[in-house]
Amino acid sequence: MEQVCKSYSHGGTPVHALRGIDLTVAGGEFVAVMGPSGSGKSTLLNILSALDRPTEGSICLDGRDIAAMTDDEVTLFRRDRIGLIFQFFNLLPTMTAVENVLLPILLARRASVADRQFAHDLLTQVGLGHRLHHKPGQLSGGEMQRVAVARAFVTRPRIILADEPTGNLDSASGAEVLQLLRRQAEERQTTVVMVTHDRNAAAVGSRILWIRDGQIHQDSAAESRPAPPPAALQPGSL
Ligand SMILES: Nc1ncnc2c1ncn2[C@@H]1O[C@H](COP(=O)(O)OP(=O)(O)OP(=O)(O)O)[C@@H](O)[C@H]1O
Ligand SMILES: [Mg+2]
Repeated sequence: MEQVCKSYSHGGTPVHALRGIDLTVAGGEFVAVMGPSGSGKSTLLNILSALDRPTEGSICLDGRDIAAMTDDEVTLFRRDRIGLIFQFFNLLPTMTAVENVLLPILLARRASVADRQFAHDLLTQVGLGHRLHHKPGQLSGGEMQRVAVARAFVTRPRIILADEPTGNLDSASGAEVLQLLRRQAEERQTTVVMVTHDRNAAAVGSRILWIRDGQIHQDSAAESRPAPPPAALQPGSL
């Protein structure tokens, strides 16, 4: 992002949500974004995911200049290259875990046998191999978010963007979800930008970005913490 600004006009009064953001994130980095409520974190993520366009400045995502793309091109780019994880999971209640994971694929085409196998594999890797055909209402919050993590990876995206993915989970479930996210991102060499209010969550990343009043206030390496051994991912131990 170069000199990215985002202003909203609210009842005639402009709100300057982002005020000149310069940011480079390298492929494979795991960046946590922190900062007070209203500082512009979600706005930053919405612009990174091209759900929203900046008022000023330019954005290059995975080698593509977003500003030069039409809305249709942006939609396809997002569908194919970006995985999204939300605070409230955003799973479809009538669909099973596998169907929810396959959803980003189903938006593009019919799911192949290989796609279904990959969805099963991802759910197994997040410790839900025994919950493949449960619907969201039959899952715990932590389990729902693990489905959402699996879904975010199903298109093999280059970038995962997550807005407070642990904001609705207790600290133990939140920590599990983050370790799974980090492990998947490492294995699949996926770049992650995650907004969080939780310092412990932020420490899962390799870098912490502090936003204040729409500007980058501090940009520092996170204290590195080794991921727990894979045994922690077995369903019996969760
Ligand atoms: N659609 C909108 N119209 C007008 N103002 C908006 C709009 N969306 C966000 N804002 C304002 O922009 C600023 C940044 O909002 P943003 O949602 O990015 O904050 P945040 O850092 O994600 O906060 P939180 O931690 O509470 O989620 C806030 O002052 C907010 O009120
Ligand atoms: Mg927010």
